[in-house]
Amino acid sequence: MKPDTLFDILVAGEINPDLIVSGDVMPEFNQTEKLVESATLTIGSSSAIFACGAARLGLKVAFIGVCGDDVFGHFMLAEMQKRGVDVSNIIVRADGQTGLSVILNRGADRAILTHPGLIPALRASDISDELLRDAHHLHVASYFLQTDLQPDLPGLFRRAQSFGLTTSLDTNYDPSEKWLGFDQLLPATTIFLPNRTEALSITGSQEIASAAKQLAEKCKLVAIKLGAEGALLQSKHKTVYVPSVPIDVVDTVGAGDTFDAGFLYGYLKGWGLEKSLRLAAVCGAFSLQASGGTAAQPTLKEALAFLK
Ligand SMILES: Nc1ncnc2c1ncn2[C@@H]1O[C@H](COP(=O)(O)OP(=O)(O)OP(=O)(O)O)[C@@H](O)[C@H]1O
Ligand SMILES: [Mg+2]
Repeated sequence: MKPDTLFDILVAGEINPDLIVSGDVMPEFNQTEKLVESATLTIGSSSAIFACGAARLGLKVAFIGVCGDDVFGHFMLAEMQKRGVDVSNIIVRADGQTGLSVILNRGADRAILTHPGLIPALRASDISDELLRDAHHLHVASYFLQTDLQPDLPGLFRRAQSFGLTTSLDTNYDPSEKWLGFDQLLPATTIFLPNRTEALSITGSQEIASAAKQLAEKCKLVAIKLGAEGALLQSKHKTVYVPSVPIDVVDTVGAGDTFDAGFLYGYLKGWGLEKSLRLAAVCGAFSLQASGGTAAQPTLKEALAFLK
């Protein structure tokens, strides 16, 4: 365990807002104008939603990533700061645009249009040894979108571990559907946090229990998100399953990231694996109760009341 550090978690991640448009959102071309029910600009990007969820639980969180010196970049900096995330290490660049996702929300289904902008721009060399030494844990999300970070991520994780940090990775979906790059990365990952599709695709397995075991051969812990079916945790010697918490679903954006924040809270506080996984499932469920990724993330007190 590292002695006292400035931050519990350093997040090395992508930065973009989400513009969520709801109602009759099927676009019609030929310059047809349609009126929709609502449009909300909110914190997007898996990494930023995770960071806000962890800060909401009371962890000290710092973020490093790249955004543009533009309206969306300034929006993200202000919103993350408002939620207690330290943004002083974020690189603001004038030579590019902050990424943006437009989410067309139609009931339970949604279509997403993403302009990557500076989403892929963070590099491992942007993350100094000094910054790593200030943190207890390093989390990376959206591995497949962070293409400049990808090739050097195993080295970054090993560098972090050499300073005593633990590491975690939530890949999210691979738009290329190749699912490559894990041979060196998983051995440097303390906690791997895929969802069902991601775990099956990465291992090539048909079955989640066997995927979990294969992954746990390579890293210390694997926590697999199973949507409404809950979550599964696998270490080399132990399997833990927790069911989901029944909840009225408004919007699923950010459930996985808020789950990750809950699991890491328990893990970093030295809780047992089952209790950490239960907290994660409660946090994931909480986040479903409002539109967008961060609006319904729970405080520790709110989550603990549910945990009982
Ligand atoms: N319908 C649901 N009811 C209750 N809990 C849910 C539901 N959907 C998700 N959860 C909780 O949230 C956790 C994470 O959700 P999910 O499996 O959708 O992750 P994900 O696919 O990584 O999400 P994301 O879209 O944020 O990347 C689940 O493991 C579960 O505990
Ligand atoms: Mg996910």
